[in-house]
Amino acid sequence: MDYFAHPTAIIDSPCEIGAGTKIWHFAHICAGAKIGARCGFGQNTMVAGDAVVGDNVKVQNNVAIYGGTTIENDVFLGPSCVLTNVTNPRSQVNRHSLYERTLIRRGATIGANATIVCGTTLGRYCFIAAGTVVAKDVPDYALMVGVPARQQGWMSRHGHRLKPGPDGSLRCPESGYRYELRDGALRCLDLDEEAPLPAEFAVGKQVYDAFKTASLISTARTSRSRLNSKPRSNASCATASSSSAKKSPNSRLPLPSSPGRSTPSGSAPAPTPSCSR
Ligand SMILES: CC(C)(COP(=O)(O)OP(=O)(O)OC[C@H]1O[C@@H](n2cnc3c(N)ncnc32)[C@H](O)[C@@H]1OP(=O)(O)O)[C@@H](O)C(=O)NCCC(=O)NCCS
Repeated sequence: MDYFAHPTAIIDSPCEIGAGTKIWHFAHICAGAKIGARCGFGQNTMVAGDAVVGDNVKVQNNVAIYGGTTIENDVFLGPSCVLTNVTNPRSQVNRHSLYERTLIRRGATIGANATIVCGTTLGRYCFIAAGTVVAKDVPDYALMVGVPARQQGWMSRHGHRLKPGPDGSLRCPESGYRYELRDGALRCLDLDEEAPLPAEFAVGKQVYDAFKTASLISTARTSRSRLNSKPRSNASCATASSSSAKKSPNSRLPLPSSPGRSTPSGSAPAPTPSCSR
């Protein structure tokens, strides 16, 4: 056994659990579950028999991953977020053979207490804000907020809102990586979506708000210097003015058209009581 399970965890067999995965207090892994390497399952989590979980998936306390759910590598499931697998449950009607698929693609984050209605696909590196209710497909890198979920902007692979950079591309204030909207899909220009993050970016250095403030200042500076220089004829992306940047940093970023719902397809050290195991 090359994974760790706390003595209070229940691991039914047969199931697959990859090397380096840690399963904490009162978790339950059902027979038939497939779990990758280097994952973390917090207190009171559950993985059903026909759920599939990739590598390096971080599942915070009180999350149940029901049958019909596929979770790709590097996904973060925030505490007490809710996944579902029947759109129209009724206690008197058995729909065990009718579970609807939910696909959570690589690098996605689901915030605390958010709910994902089944039959949806969450795109790569999308970011679902705390408490949001998602009932439709979500594009790659989209930041979704509220009930029902509405796209409020784009989040980088590092979890920062993307802002227009000096060359017109969208920039991550932490990594400096550039992103561009092409044919309605956001893509990172500096790192392939399937490539692992370079080690230098694997540990955060400042809290979220520090990057927000810093990038607002630099956006305002960029805008001021543009006002003082000749306009570029080939500028194709939206650029925030200093006043609009302060009010709403992403208010002028391009957003895709409204996404539709998909068709079904397919004795160890004590844990730190933290949100992020
Ligand atoms: C969405 C999030 C990333 C912040 O994004 P942001 O764009 O920087 O948001 P801001 O803080 O600038 O707030 C912008 C507006 O959105 C609102 N807002 C922020 N988060 C919200 C949320 N989860 N739901 C609803 N509204 C939210 C703010 O109140 C603010 O509203 P206002 O314009 O009326 O004042 C963050 O609030 C969030 O939800 N993070 C997830 C945290 C989490 O679940 N972590 C789990 C591991 S511990």
